[in-house]
Amino acid sequence: MIIKTKIDKKTDTYKSNFENMKELVSDFKKKSRVVKIGGSLESRKRHIKRGKILPRERIEYLLDNKDDALEIGQIAGYDLNNNETPSGSIISVVGKVSGRDTIIIANDATVKGGTYYPITLKKHLRSLEIARENNLACIHLVDSGGANLKEQTGIFADKEGFGRIFYEMANMSSKGIPQISAVLGSCTAGGAYIPAMSDETVIVKKNGTIFLGGPHLVKAATGEITDEQELGGAELHTRMSGVADYFAEDDYEALNITKRILGNLNYKKENSLKLEQNKEPKYDPQEIYGIVSKDLKEQYNVKEIIARIVDNSELDEFKEDYGTTLVTGFAHIKGFPVGIIANNGILFSESSLKGAHFIQLCEQRGTPIIFLQNISGFMIGKSFEERGIAKDGAKLVNAVSTVTVPKFTVIIGGSFGAGNYAMCGRAYSPRFLFSWPNSKISVMGGEIAARVLLSVKEAQLQKLGQSLKDEKKSKFSKEIIDQFDYEGSPYYASARLWDDGIIDPLDTRKILSLSISYSLNAKRKKGKFGIFRM
Ligand code: COA
Repeated sequence: MIIKTKIDKKTDTYKSNFENMKELVSDFKKKSRVVKIGGSLESRKRHIKRGKILPRERIEYLLDNKDDALEIGQIAGYDLNNNETPSGSIISVVGKVSGRDTIIIANDATVKGGTYYPITLKKHLRSLEIARENNLACIHLVDSGGANLKEQTGIFADKEGFGRIFYEMANMSSKGIPQISAVLGSCTAGGAYIPAMSDETVIVKKNGTIFLGGPHLVKAATGEITDEQELGGAELHTRMSGVADYFAEDDYEALNITKRILGNLNYKKENSLKLEQNKEPKYDPQEIYGIVSKDLKEQYNVKEIIARIVDNSELDEFKEDYGTTLVTGFAHIKGFPVGIIANNGILFSESSLKGAHFIQLCEQRGTPIIFLQNISGFMIGKSFEERGIAKDGAKLVNAVSTVTVPKFTVIIGGSFGAGNYAMCGRAYSPRFLFSWPNSKISVMGGEIAARVLLSVKEAQLQKLGQSLKDEKKSKFSKEIIDQFDYEGSPYYASARLWDDGIIDPLDTRKILSLSISYSLNAKRKKGKFGIFRM
């Protein structure tokens, strides 16, 4: 059924929503332009003077078509480390190289010699997780001094430490997921295992070096005086040690060799979905700007958003009149069949049951699921607890956790409390998770949190026969609200890789279609749902 819009573009609400979203998107684009520059002007100049290409240009040169590229974690590191780690100082892009769906992971040597901060490591590991889950070939564009020694406690010893990169690479290689390295700069200490663990490795003359201990470390540890080329240059590794397989004169040659390696993978992508012809939505996606309320508390009909994302604005709604605070239905995005699960208010028992039922349908049919998340949480209160909201919510959480079709989440508004779980938040392993610039994410809204904590405080004081003056109460609440406001921002979340990136709502359709397409590389093994508490 084609969704019939009820939007009136002449209303003041529409116009003010539109302006608000336009401003948020423009602010996002400004931030995105800044992080894409990379390190300081001085270090970029030094990089280029060495005959190297900047990391984003390296990636662009490798890609078959930059329009199909999906950047991951662009905002990572934002406002962290004195803002010295743009994009987490490592750039990750999913795209096609010589026809093979690939993730390219590129160190940015213009930021502290490409050394790893905790956020750099987290992003590298997230990129490898994406590769593993979606069976994407990995290209590592190595140009890094390894561990940032001042940050060593945050990157070394834990399970998700630097060593996990090599563990993931070895395991992916064992599953036939190609691991290819191009060493375009330093590759020091633990970092040396990236090319050493790769299936095939290219190294560039002069700039490319691989060693377990660089000249500084060798001198400090053993007193031996040596230079970089003697220790681990391209000649040494392609002629004597065998640590690298291909010698390249410069960056371009190394990238050309990398493309040829990808071309020799003898891989054919299979598609298990019944594709339809792509039909653009009937309504202009730009109208999403005017529909999304400026104030998260103001409800709008999420079907108006779906109508501007899916093919021909067509949604075959499942249980249209039951559990109406959750919209479920079948649709297509650029020809790919999808199941849509979208919030239209708070989650009740009925909406949870409907969601769990719909997920079972998608599982049976192998249909990918899109979650459009805008949720303040589950309904609370005595009568709802009596009717077992906890066990009905658990059925939805259970289904979301164990369904084996690819899941994709877009946070289009609020993401609060257990609603985040039920709507496939980060912990539920959606293949990709993106957020709109108006989104907010926290365990609960700031105002509610302030009321909860104030109530706890007042109860404590009451026991002591004391009370708070109104002035103190307002100050107490304001501090909590301000904290939640700051920490709930999508930039706070994206900086810490709680998502894979902030996106312009206008690009949602394209980004979802690319995400689905990339996910199809992985063959699905049908699983089993757990026990649903009845
Ligand atoms: N930890 C922390 N900071 C480091 C670092 C490290 N491992 N390696 C380099 N840096 C910092 C430098 O102090 C410098 O900081 P500044 O800009 O504030 O002065 C910045 O990164 C750039 O270093 P520089 O040596 O000027 O750049 P370069 O491009 O000429 O060389 C390296 C980069 C990485 C090749 C070189 O710095 C090096 O060999 N570092 C030591 C690497 C190492 O031994 N790592 C051990 C990991 S276990």
